[in-house]
Amino acid sequence: MRFLKLFLLLLFSAFHINLSSAQIASDFRKSCASNNGNFTANSTYDANLNRLFSQLSSSQDYNHGFYHMSVGQSPDQVNAIALCRGDQNVDVCKSCLNSTIYALQQTCPNYKEAIGWSEFCTLRYSNRQIYGIMETDPYDKLWRVDNQSAPHNVNDFDRALSFLLKNLSVRAAAGGPLFKYAAGLTVSSQRIYAMMQCTPDLSQQKCGACLATGSDRMRAACYGITGCRILQPSCLLRYEIDLFLSDLSNVIIVPFAPPCPPPPSPTEGR
Ligand SMILES: *[C@@H]1O[C@H](CO)[C@@H](O)[C@H](O)[C@H]1NC(C)=O
Ligand SMILES: *[C@@H]1O[C@H](CO)[C@@H](O)[C@H](O)[C@H]1NC(C)=O
Ligand SMILES: *[C@@H]1O[C@H](CO)[C@@H](O)[C@H](O)[C@H]1NC(C)=O
Ligand SMILES: *[C@@H]1O[C@H](CO)[C@@H](O)[C@H](O)[C@H]1NC(C)=O
Ligand SMILES: *[C@@H]1O[C@H](CO)[C@@H](O)[C@H](O)[C@H]1NC(C)=O
Repeated sequence: MRFLKLFLLLLFSAFHINLSSAQIASDFRKSCASNNGNFTANSTYDANLNRLFSQLSSSQDYNHGFYHMSVGQSPDQVNAIALCRGDQNVDVCKSCLNSTIYALQQTCPNYKEAIGWSEFCTLRYSNRQIYGIMETDPYDKLWRVDNQSAPHNVNDFDRALSFLLKNLSVRAAAGGPLFKYAAGLTVSSQRIYAMMQCTPDLSQQKCGACLATGSDRMRAACYGITGCRILQPSCLLRYEIDLFLSDLSNVIIVPFAPPCPPPPSPTEGR
């Protein structure tokens, strides 16, 4: 009996330690806005931000993982937008939002405006209006660095990827007012899985513009690399040679149509 108590005590304290030393994922990225002011501890803004965090983590709505909320009155109003990745379910979404709140509290304390990108969700808040406004900055990028980071054939890979990205950007932007998400797979000398997503408060045109900027950045940062993410406030882009998507029901196979072969030269066959 005594041993059992001791065991339970140890188990409980291990669990407790585990909870209180919550980890920030290594692929978490953030930007604390240095040009938009700080708030002080226990100020009205602090209270509004905390109310917003608790409303967000306890929200019963799902709406394809899109949240926008405002708490308080100007100049202490806090506005937030959160978006979960389109292939994830409500449980992953909730737990991602929770850990992203924690990560932002740790890494951007006292900033009135900040954005945090986790693998499965993005969370941004500000004292200014952000709903319906397309923003491509600040941004961040992540790319694959292991021993498979080089494509088998860079030219093939790049052509197939460009083709896939173009297809996805058109489809994501056309996604309507609820869900601007598209995912696909193409096969050249390798498989490439990709996804794109905009916050659905953007118009089709604004979403397309956000993804176009992201695609340019992706090409500049990740040409000749087998996996890449571009993280922007209003939209996200990612491709990998590994299957990184959880829900395949939305994944469209985009057959790669290589350019027409050149016409046979007159000397051919001689
Ligand atoms: C806000 O606070 C951070 C430290 O918490 C500091 O580095 C930064 O300079 C401050 N920004 C302004 C505008 O006061
Ligand atoms: C904020 O309030 C808490 C609890 O009321 C208190 O412990 C803390 O010292 C306060 N911090 C500041 C900077 O006033
Ligand atoms: C949210 O995270 C906190 C730790 O930061 C944890 O104690 C709590 O259980 C989490 N809630 C959910 C719903 O995941
Ligand atoms: C790449 O590295 C991993 C371990 O880091 C190893 O298991 C794997 O065999 C390597 N693959 C190739 C193609 O070298
Ligand atoms: C994307 O590719 C699919 C599959 O080939 C095709 O049906 C669809 O029309 C393409 N969409 C665009 C916008 O290119």
